[in-house]
Amino acid sequence: MVLSRKDAYGQEIWAYLNGERGFSEIVERDDNFIDRSSGPETYFQKFVDWHDVDKRAMLEVRGKRVLDVGCGAGRVCLNLQQEGYEVVGIDNSPFAIKTCLRMGVKDARLLPIEDIGTLPPNSYDTIIMLGNNFGLFGDFEKARRLLRRMYELTSDYGVIIAESTDPYKTKIKDHFEYHKLNKRRKRMPGQLRIRVRFRKVIGEWFDYLLVSRDEMEKIVKGTGWKIVKILNKPKSASYIAIIVKDN
Ligand SMILES: C[S@@+](CC[C@H](N)C(=O)[O-])C[C@H]1O[C@@H](n2cnc3c(N)ncnc32)[C@H](O)[C@@H]1O
Repeated sequence: MVLSRKDAYGQEIWAYLNGERGFSEIVERDDNFIDRSSGPETYFQKFVDWHDVDKRAMLEVRGKRVLDVGCGAGRVCLNLQQEGYEVVGIDNSPFAIKTCLRMGVKDARLLPIEDIGTLPPNSYDTIIMLGNNFGLFGDFEKARRLLRRMYELTSDYGVIIAESTDPYKTKIKDHFEYHKLNKRRKRMPGQLRIRVRFRKVIGEWFDYLLVSRDEMEKIVKGTGWKIVKILNKPKSASYIAIIVKDN
């Protein structure tokens, strides 16, 4: 769980919700590379303004009960709620949960992905991880462990809708050097060690996993799931995978 004084991402969206504008979070990587996010606006977007591929991904939602993992400011929860789904949003950021509740999400809970095993078995039909949230799986082994938990959590026709970014689709030299550094450290090339900064708030370091489609296949294999569809975001390294039970 993120301590409030370290909740950089949450405090950023909370500030945005409270009318502050003109800033975005800084993401710092453990090789000193820093990047600025696209800004908090995207986390608050109404469905009409979403990326077309995010909209298409919502057509893949199955059943009635949905778990939104890493729900952020609640844009996905709100859309599903309006469509009549029973949706639970979980996040490890106290300020993100506060933001979701203020935005009108009915069921938003402070729960890190690491603890999803505490949720009752067979309680969801769809697990959704948009906003690049496949990254929350962190590393190869953790991803496989959590995918097995997700298998238990979902019904026979369960589906996971998860977005990732192919780390190799880049022209930035620093990224290729980072992949090499990771290989030397016996980490997956796209296993980023990052922390988020917002104003004077500095988040904890955590692992965030970017994978190619082939790497995702290898992670998913043998966990009870299989990838059945990939929705590519044109002119981007991002894609959304539709992952169903391999019964
Ligand atoms: C990029 S935002 C995506 C938000 C939302 N899914 C969307 O598409 O708008 C990532 C979210 O994951 C949350 N997060 C980060 N680490 C997490 C963890 N270990 N468990 C649960 N949520 C986490 C962050 O607090 C943040 O709200």
